[in-house]
Amino acid sequence: MTNKNAGVLFSVDLMRQIKDRFHYVDFDMRGRRRLFFDNAGGSFRLKTATERHSIIDAIPDCPERIHELALYLQDVQERGTQDVRTVLNALNGTVYASLTASGAMFDMVRAITENIPGKNMVTSVLEHPSSYDAMEMYATRTGKELRVAKSNTMTGGIDVDDVVGLVDENTCLLSVMYASNISGAKIDIEKVVSRARAIKPDLYILVDAVQHAPHGIIDLQKTAVDGINFAPYKFFGCRGSGFSWLSPRAARLPHNKLAGKAQDFWDLGSPTPSQFAVVTEMVDYVCWLGSQFSGASERRALFACGMDRIAQHEQALLFQMLNGGNGVPGLRKIDGLKVFFDHDDLTTRDLIVAITFDGLTDTQAVREYEKRGVIVYERVTTSLYSQRMLDSFGIKGSVRVSPLHCNSTEDISQFLEITRELSLL
Ligand SMILES: Cc1ncc(COP(=O)(O)O)c(C=O)c1O
Repeated sequence: MTNKNAGVLFSVDLMRQIKDRFHYVDFDMRGRRRLFFDNAGGSFRLKTATERHSIIDAIPDCPERIHELALYLQDVQERGTQDVRTVLNALNGTVYASLTASGAMFDMVRAITENIPGKNMVTSVLEHPSSYDAMEMYATRTGKELRVAKSNTMTGGIDVDDVVGLVDENTCLLSVMYASNISGAKIDIEKVVSRARAIKPDLYILVDAVQHAPHGIIDLQKTAVDGINFAPYKFFGCRGSGFSWLSPRAARLPHNKLAGKAQDFWDLGSPTPSQFAVVTEMVDYVCWLGSQFSGASERRALFACGMDRIAQHEQALLFQMLNGGNGVPGLRKIDGLKVFFDHDDLTTRDLIVAITFDGLTDTQAVREYEKRGVIVYERVTTSLYSQRMLDSFGIKGSVRVSPLHCNSTEDISQFLEITRELSLL
């Protein structure tokens, strides 16, 4: 394909190998054929991740001992910690393991808001409740003004000017997401960070990377922030953990911790080596993918190559979803439905499409899709996870379609055929 927006698909052979590494890509647990296009709500799981999780979790030994298996578990944990750094390209700072990405975000917002002077805090209307509500709660508690950047109704994202325009020398904390889990729009974090720090050089910045991390390269060496999180269950791993990274100065701020632990230590309670093993499996997989295209030997280089290829394949799927292919018309050409936030620069979008049908409510559409073996998700204003964002766009709801790089061009064609059928209802 020559169009620069068209991405690059994996070869047929590689696609087959990728599908084979994940559970339930083509069939559900009951053996029914289906298209699971709700990966933004929890992604396909790597077989190795679920296997290693269960193998490590079956070991009764406490990792905080001195015997052989305890030392083995410590090693599993250390490797997982290093692999969180690999994902983010983080060299120093603290890796924080928690039960959910939401919990960690509340903790990071709290530590900065309670300890860094300032009169205001800046965020965006598109944030997930885990960061938005934390910002609102701690702004209220500490008597600071909460400034909220508006969304761009055309792109489904946040314009850099709109966030940066709210920052001044009295800003205590800026919290902004890497990409919207509703529209798929990526925020230009590199520009946000450099322009915000041009206004206040020592500004504390938090980034919610839960949506974007499985879809593209994150590089803290290029764009330094103070805290960032991701969730393994949306990143080919397992449910039950959230991983975050804090800069050295953020990690040293007062926070909930056992008195005897180092000042920059954030984990609370017994470590869970199985969750760290899952991160290593995620990184191993992406490195394997990278090794299909690169002769690099360094782990981060292979990981970055793998993520870049994932992004390119997903861009090709997005291109096909919108424009069609294989003789099947794309969403843009199907009468009786509307595609939201549609614009041509696919490089600024994760693989999420929001649509609505003329003849079906969003909830009806989700049920009709399910009858035809397709799992998608309705984003409606009655949900606390959607209302603020949808209101900001001035829309009542949408059907969110979120395939993954494990999906093939044939999967997208099949989805488009079914969508055409629904548009006639
Ligand atoms: C963008 C974004 N941030 C944060 C979260 C919260 O993640 P967790 O469920 O691990 O707390 C989600 C989950 O849907 C999300 O989509």
